[in-house]
Amino acid sequence: MIRTANLNKKYGDFMALQGVSLNVREGDIYGFIGPNGAGKTTTIKILTTLLEPTGGDATVCGLSVWDNKEQIRGLIGYMPDAFGVYPDMTVTEYLHFFAAAYGIPRKERGGLVDGLLELTDLTYKEDALVDSLSKGMQQRLGLARALVHDPRVLILDEPAAGLDPRARVELREILRELQAMGKTILLSSHILSELQDICNRIGIVERGRLVAEGSVDEILDQLGGAGRYSLRTTDDERAQALLQAHELVASVAVDEQAALSFEFVDAASDVALITQALASEGIGLRHLAKARVSLEDAFMKLTKGLVQ
Ligand SMILES: Nc1ncnc2c1ncn2[C@@H]1O[C@H](COP(=O)(O)OP(=O)(O)OP(=O)(O)O)[C@@H](O)[C@H]1O
Ligand SMILES: [Mg+2]
Repeated sequence: MIRTANLNKKYGDFMALQGVSLNVREGDIYGFIGPNGAGKTTTIKILTTLLEPTGGDATVCGLSVWDNKEQIRGLIGYMPDAFGVYPDMTVTEYLHFFAAAYGIPRKERGGLVDGLLELTDLTYKEDALVDSLSKGMQQRLGLARALVHDPRVLILDEPAAGLDPRARVELREILRELQAMGKTILLSSHILSELQDICNRIGIVERGRLVAEGSVDEILDQLGGAGRYSLRTTDDERAQALLQAHELVASVAVDEQAALSFEFVDAASDVALITQALASEGIGLRHLAKARVSLEDAFMKLTKGLVQ
């Protein structure tokens, strides 16, 4: 649905994007994640045809941003990371204005605007001045505006920024509803955990490069989560010493709750060799489970070494 192939963008001598190839499939809620300055907004501006790439290609519904700008704009609903100053208009007038700008026939506008206000939970603010809305309400109005022309694809730059936890949950509900309506959604954030339960797929960008892409589970597996186990034994102290001395074990850790975990040198190692080693020392096993790196750890691991 949205693809980029070896996308490059230079600002003067500065390479903001260096060969980004991402793939958003139809029906995805795709989280585009990276720290400040990673290149998220730059990529989004290229996808929304507001900025031309320096090299490579980006396509939306099979149309290239190089020569289908008008068509792509018709297919996309875009919510920028920052809105300008709002005009002196009510919420309803504002949406009517954009409906007119998109060429929606006058007699259809009323029903359309009512539906959008309902979807974004702004009906009770229909007569309020846009300027008087809170940040979260302005974000929702921005989303309503992006939906005026019933686009197939939604591209939202940091839609959860500045939202309180409850507004974030509401945003998630709205995005799920839109997904159920058949829309494909790309949204950016610099907080990985903020998007993990909203998105079915994630791309992580760092210093202009895509460093990982896939489902949350796939990304965690790529990071060696598969080879890590946590355990409880009848004698954790001796178990720790045994693990530290074991040739198959790369590292041993003890967390704040005094839970022991270890990582294999090789992800293909057989955990039975460890349980046997413990048993032969007379150490009983109370609990053994595959441990996963947390998303934040994954993010730090992925971006480590890439940050100057
Ligand atoms: N118009 C511009 N001229 C020069 N450099 C720019 C311009 N726009 C962006 N950059 C640089 O390109 C890099 C990527 O910026 P971009 O805005 O795409 O990052 P981002 O991932 O959206 O960050 P944030 O999380 O802060 O929004 C940054 O180093 C930024 O300083
Ligand atoms: Mg940005």
